[in-house]
Amino acid sequence: MNKNILLCVSGGIAVYKAVALVSKLSQAGANVKVMMTASARQFVNPLSFQVMSKNDVYFDTFDEKDSSVIAHIDLADWADLILVAPATANMIGKMANGIADDMVSTTLLATTAPVWIAPAMNVHMYDHPAVKRNLERLAADGYQFIEPSEGFLACGYVGKGRLEEPEKITAIVLDFFAAPATIKPLTNKTVVVTVGALHVPLDEKHVISPQANGLIGQALANEARELGAHVIQIENGSLNDVMQQLEASKNQNPEIILIHAANVPTMEKTPLISVEGIKAVTFGQEVLGEPMLNIRSDRWIEFSEEAQLNGRIIATTNPQQFARTLWTHILKGEEQ
Ligand SMILES: Cc1cc2nc3c(=O)[nH]c(=O)nc-3n(C[C@H](O)[C@H](O)[C@H](O)COP(=O)(O)O)c2cc1C
Repeated sequence: MNKNILLCVSGGIAVYKAVALVSKLSQAGANVKVMMTASARQFVNPLSFQVMSKNDVYFDTFDEKDSSVIAHIDLADWADLILVAPATANMIGKMANGIADDMVSTTLLATTAPVWIAPAMNVHMYDHPAVKRNLERLAADGYQFIEPSEGFLACGYVGKGRLEEPEKITAIVLDFFAAPATIKPLTNKTVVVTVGALHVPLDEKHVISPQANGLIGQALANEARELGAHVIQIENGSLNDVMQQLEASKNQNPEIILIHAANVPTMEKTPLISVEGIKAVTFGQEVLGEPMLNIRSDRWIEFSEEAQLNGRIIATTNPQQFARTLWTHILKGEEQ
């Protein structure tokens, strides 16, 4: 792994583990530089990090060793990945609020590299609503996390808050660099799949629902996941549930595809789903709006042996195979 990793160490009891982390990352071939907060230096002397990383250790924003660069900007640009480990509650709070009052927090604002946060703290601190709120905000800002593990904490409590083991963090980093992110065809798309059967009210106390084994819907949902989609599965719900889910999903992400594979009661008062503005693949069901593709079969898809896809006959006996064929067809249509 010939990558530049900047390890930002903030001041928790787990700082000693960060020394082992530098060692593991270096053994894995990374070029590691370490930056410490003032509190972190209360726990471990920078010399330990300097020896392990074979690089200078940085902690003072105003200590400009090389007059040709500004150190925190230079380091922010140098890094292929920044790890904040351990990340204190304080540092998490500063990051969530864009505070830059020391070298670590300033560098974290100046970088465009991916930043991973490995929180470590007392279990009650980790559960505190303020810390939770900050973590949620950071997640929304696109930061990645290496979750703390559970176990004995230095403060005497047992619970979630231990810095993940250096070996594990190193393995995650290796994985990240080993597998370049491949953009899958359904990345950033939301696929809502109705699976099994949907019910409609018969009267105030009863609903009516057709039989269904859900195998085709399940296979279509699984395949969509493989293709990178964010999949929402509605199983044995009501038509109302589907409408609500479509509205909610549409508001969050207009790139939505409905795969309406569930069986729906064929009653006169069965309401139709509106797919206005949504790409919808239907299986003989009627919907309001222009569905993208309607697959025909002589019976409900899961009980028939073949289906017609734009005049082409496709076997449905192997749901997984069918799902692959159908998604290939849908994606081809998308390209045109
Ligand atoms: C013995 C000791 C252990 C501490 N351990 C942690 C810890 O594990 N996690 C944490 O968030 N804060 C911990 N703190 C509190 C932080 O050091 C403190 O909030 C500090 O301001 C963090 O500064 P920094 O984020 O700039 O490093 C600890 C403090 C002491 C004295």
